[in-house]
Amino acid sequence: MKTILWATLTANGNYAQSSPENPPKKEALDDFAAQAKAAGNFVVGRRTFEGMRGSGGPGPFADLDIVVVSKHASDIQGATVVRSPKEALSYLQQKGHQTVLISGGADIHNSFLEQGLVDELIFNVTPVVEGKGLNLIADRENYRCQPVQLLDCKPLGGGVVQLRYAMER
Ligand SMILES: NC(=O)c1ccc[n+]([C@@H]2O[C@H](COP(=O)([O-])OP(=O)(O)OC[C@H]3O[C@@H](n4cnc5c(N)ncnc54)[C@H](OP(=O)(O)O)[C@@H]3O)[C@@H](O)[C@H]2O)c1
Repeated sequence: MKTILWATLTANGNYAQSSPENPPKKEALDDFAAQAKAAGNFVVGRRTFEGMRGSGGPGPFADLDIVVVSKHASDIQGATVVRSPKEALSYLQQKGHQTVLISGGADIHNSFLEQGLVDELIFNVTPVVEGKGLNLIADRENYRCQPVQLLDCKPLGGGVVQLRYAMER
């Protein structure tokens, strides 16, 4: 089973954040929808899922396997709750998925990276520059540098550039 970390980065390398005043670019959102549909699932942190869902259900993603990672939440309508990144992967493997899309947020992405559970990175670089923000960090305790292999690079429109990398496990 292949694990893909999908994230939007800013032009100055931050892990992009979104809000009603600073919505994600349509091209990045469309790409997320296409990648999630192709995988048939996505794994998301509890905080990001609450932001996506607002006060309603999973909306356009209702036919996908949505897995919410949380240490505390119990039932979440329209999603399966698991307690750890590894549990998310076991659940989707047992359901027969070939690919898993890890859709964020920062805490979840960094947990998967730190635990060495990522095979591929998809970064959509958007044309904004942020101030103080969030980062993707493969190790929150120590400096280390892990080379990755560039697989593809293409514009998605609207100034968004997609970079795709393979990671060695
Ligand atoms: N750039 C992008 O592609 C992208 C994508 C998505 C979101 N975002 C941004 O990311 C931000 C939200 O990210 P976030 O880091 O605050 O939250 P998050 O990663 O969405 O969710 C964090 C929650 O996930 C659970 N969690 C995290 N690590 C865990 C682990 N190892 N085991 C079990 N549960 C774990 C915990 O839930 P409990 O507290 O319930 O235990 C934690 O509070 C927002 O600013 C959003 O705009 C960016």
